[in-house]
Amino acid sequence: MHTLTLTRPDDWHLHVRDGAMLASVVPDTARQFGRAIIMPNLKPPVATVDQALAYRERILAAVPEGMSFQPLMTLYLTEQTTPDEIHRAADCQHVYAVKYYPAGATTNAASGVRVIDRVWPVLEAMQDVRLPLLMHGEVTDSDIDVFDREAVFIERHLSRLVKAFPELPMVLEHITTKDSADFVREGPANLAATVTAHHLLLNRNAMFEGGLRPHHYCLPLIKREQHRQALVEVATSGSPKFFLGTDSAPHPKAAKESDCGCAGIYSARNAMAFYAEVFEEAGALDRLEAFASHYGPDFYRLPRNNDQITLIREQERVPEVVDFGGHPGIPLRAGGSVGWRVAAG
Ligand code: DOR
Ligand code: ZN
Repeated sequence: MHTLTLTRPDDWHLHVRDGAMLASVVPDTARQFGRAIIMPNLKPPVATVDQALAYRERILAAVPEGMSFQPLMTLYLTEQTTPDEIHRAADCQHVYAVKYYPAGATTNAASGVRVIDRVWPVLEAMQDVRLPLLMHGEVTDSDIDVFDREAVFIERHLSRLVKAFPELPMVLEHITTKDSADFVREGPANLAATVTAHHLLLNRNAMFEGGLRPHHYCLPLIKREQHRQALVEVATSGSPKFFLGTDSAPHPKAAKESDCGCAGIYSARNAMAFYAEVFEEAGALDRLEAFASHYGPDFYRLPRNNDQITLIREQERVPEVVDFGGHPGIPLRAGGSVGWRVAAG
């Protein structure tokens, strides 16, 4: 098979930043995806509907002429978020979800939630209006090993949330472990998960191959090979609870190659090619379309896209360096090649 035509996919978890960086990265996503759920972890966070609407305008201004990409906005959940703001979000046609960061869990998560019980009334309001909760599922306690933080989040928080909110759509974002894959697969229908390309492609050796590799550092961390295999299994299984979310997260090269380097992998440029590689390797190319283009909109109760993209089975070189608003950035697999490319137009 040399070409693969699919319903246009969507990215259900994406960071595009702001300003000059935003202008550089949005075209990479807009070339492939019809829509993307936009993460709100700017500085300051996108915590209100008004802020989300203003951010949406800035994103739309970065979409190249002739492309019809739609940013789906989210609100950053803080301990100050009110049920009223949730009702405003539900009435706004551009806000699609609320993002939960445990305070301090990752980039710009300082305004996140310290004590989950403090946001209980807000979660109840979200359940009433069926506004999805997107979770960065890690605990941040210093006595919990960084590789175990996702599994402990499930034990301590997610099990309880799932019992307490049977009607709240919940997405465990960027799952990295077999524990999460099993929990979501066996969980109730209102619980789903996004899976990144990098967690499907890499195991944790990638962070230490021949030296310390900051461009493979992301959160939650990439895990052992057995976890990678479990993710490939569920992503390619045909279960509608698992769908595409790149978590593409650009940082300038200098911010990653530093004494305290930032977490985040920039995969947007070749995102669909990376997923196609994974599905091909698993002998499941026939299931790529549902994972990338059907299950996400179905979960969010949105129509599927009505146009298509074509992937061509051809080696394409990934540049060594890309431009992030005047700063060099290093994309996933920089200087290497991918086995698929997206046809122009
Ligand atoms: O690796 C990550 N980068 N994980 C996150 O949760 C945040 C993201 C970012 O914003 O850079
Ligand atoms: Zn993210």
